[in-house]
Amino acid sequence: MITRDTKVGELLNNPIAKDVLSQLVQYAGVNEKVILNPIVKSLKLSAIPKFAGKAMPDADYVIDAMIDLFNQEADTKPLMKSNTHYWWKEAVVYQIYPRSFQDGNGDGVGDLKGIIQRLDYLKELGVDAIWLSPIFDSPNDDNGYDVRDYRAILPEFGTMEDAEELIRQMHARGMRLIIDLVVNHTSDEHEWFIDSAKNPQGEHADYYIWRKPKNGGHPNNWHSFFCGSAWEKVDSRDEEYLHLFSKKQPDLNWENPKVRDEVCDIIDFWRAKGVDGFRLDVINYISKTTLDNGSETLGSLLQFSGIEHYFYGKRLHEFLHELKRRAFGDAFTVGETPGTGPEMNKLLTADEREELNTVFSFDHLENHGKTRFDDYRYNLNHLKKTFSRLEGDYADYAWPSIFVENHDNPRMVSKINPNDEYRDIIAKLIAVVLLTARGTVFLYQGQEIGAVNVDFQDMSEMRDIESINKYDDLIACGKTPEQAWHAVLVGSRDHARTPMQWTDEKYAGFSEHEPWIRVGDKDVRNVAQQLKEETSVLRAYQTLIQLRKDHPALVYGSFEPHEAAKDDVFCYYRDDGNERFYIEINLCERAVKQPATKGEMELVYSNYMAQGDGLQPYETNIYRVQK
Ligand code: NOJ
Repeated sequence: MITRDTKVGELLNNPIAKDVLSQLVQYAGVNEKVILNPIVKSLKLSAIPKFAGKAMPDADYVIDAMIDLFNQEADTKPLMKSNTHYWWKEAVVYQIYPRSFQDGNGDGVGDLKGIIQRLDYLKELGVDAIWLSPIFDSPNDDNGYDVRDYRAILPEFGTMEDAEELIRQMHARGMRLIIDLVVNHTSDEHEWFIDSAKNPQGEHADYYIWRKPKNGGHPNNWHSFFCGSAWEKVDSRDEEYLHLFSKKQPDLNWENPKVRDEVCDIIDFWRAKGVDGFRLDVINYISKTTLDNGSETLGSLLQFSGIEHYFYGKRLHEFLHELKRRAFGDAFTVGETPGTGPEMNKLLTADEREELNTVFSFDHLENHGKTRFDDYRYNLNHLKKTFSRLEGDYADYAWPSIFVENHDNPRMVSKINPNDEYRDIIAKLIAVVLLTARGTVFLYQGQEIGAVNVDFQDMSEMRDIESINKYDDLIACGKTPEQAWHAVLVGSRDHARTPMQWTDEKYAGFSEHEPWIRVGDKDVRNVAQQLKEETSVLRAYQTLIQLRKDHPALVYGSFEPHEAAKDDVFCYYRDDGNERFYIEINLCERAVKQPATKGEMELVYSNYMAQGDGLQPYETNIYRVQK
């Protein structure tokens, strides 16, 4: 048990503490070695408030909250190693943002019929499964992540018959469908919420989290991820409801067993339709340990207060185990779990614990001390560090999800180096990192053609609620319109949400009608053109996906780093006992010395036409090692 007498150094033996410390260090942008400093290591937790002084006015509060959190796993058994083979470990999953993939009925909005038209393309690319962002009926405050009816399809996207047809067509091609289950919150237009707000004594009264205002203010100081307080009032109840996202996305009350019954019913409904898996939106937020105020210190470090009370809540494991036992069965599950670290994630996904199959960890998406809205060049050494951790020891116990893009992030190529000269090279480098990784690979639409950020001109072109609220918030905090626009442009989720670029036609072959959001650089990059070019990014993806399929060593093989201490190169072996591969990657824009290797090797893929002495900027090569 951790107490106030525990020394900082001893915390590192506690898995949860290890994760939390490393997350905090990442946010603060300080070197991890700080915690290993002998003076810091020997400090008792009770001494921290004095040590931290004014820098951390609520130190006592933070320490108590942390002790509570760290002790959550005090009785947890150590995990066993596991290397069981499952279809989802081998799968290359392709994420579709339905609104932007293909318009099938000419209204400027992507839809299910459109997706069906493009299944052969995806099959040819080598995709095994599709993760479909939400397709359910929704007022679209957050583009479908605010569900009004879990059993109806958003009319703009089609009908239930279209969804059934999609499942049939996918299964006929040997592909699987993973749908997005958004059950941390619903829309405020969901019938449960309408009733909950109207009838404080009614059947749905406790489906959401309601609390009385405190001292004329909100029930606590928690922030919404989409700006402002996480609480909102309604006229019909003398309480406020919690919404971690927009005020149109009230959080469900998972403490209420009826809510969990409802979620199980929704899962049953979609499993009966033939859905093969579920991506669970912000699923680690479902258990709120307390509704106490969040620490001011943590709030300013993490930019949102209250997180420590719900990012790894006391009942999280219990709720997930219940869903697995009662509803998921053998359906695949991938949890979106912002903020949890590798040790927590192992506990969420190890086979023996029967909770989730895998989770998305986000540690690799930003460099130390940076956020999505900071304008900086992403240093790929960070990707090396975070992926090495996942694919090594972590994957012996649990199974990682490997991705660099999704609908919530700008394009990775732009982040690494916006210089056009390297666009294809970097896009192919990313393809190599992903497709030689030990984990389930998730690609995001457009990544396979090397999509980059979009040249949005001003706020009138932005569609995402997060970008719009962020802009208003920055202005309210005193930023100039130029500064606010710049920050939004750097981090906006809209970069990844522009229409898929199929052709160089007016609307990129996405639609005949003006799309709901502007089109990117379809004249420079589009699928039709890349299918014609042998050396295109698209062809590289096809080749690398096939390579992965033909060689299980690239999926299940051990991950053995080579010359790991050398900066700017990422080299590793993948070996399953039958075959051995060697991958070398130059992580920077200059030519670097090629790390030495032993033995005969045959080059099987390179993102350069010709190899020289050393590694050229962002060069990556895959070799088969002759045994
Ligand atoms: C995570 C989703 O990926 C994001 O798009 C959404 O805005 C939030 N969860 C809220 O549902």
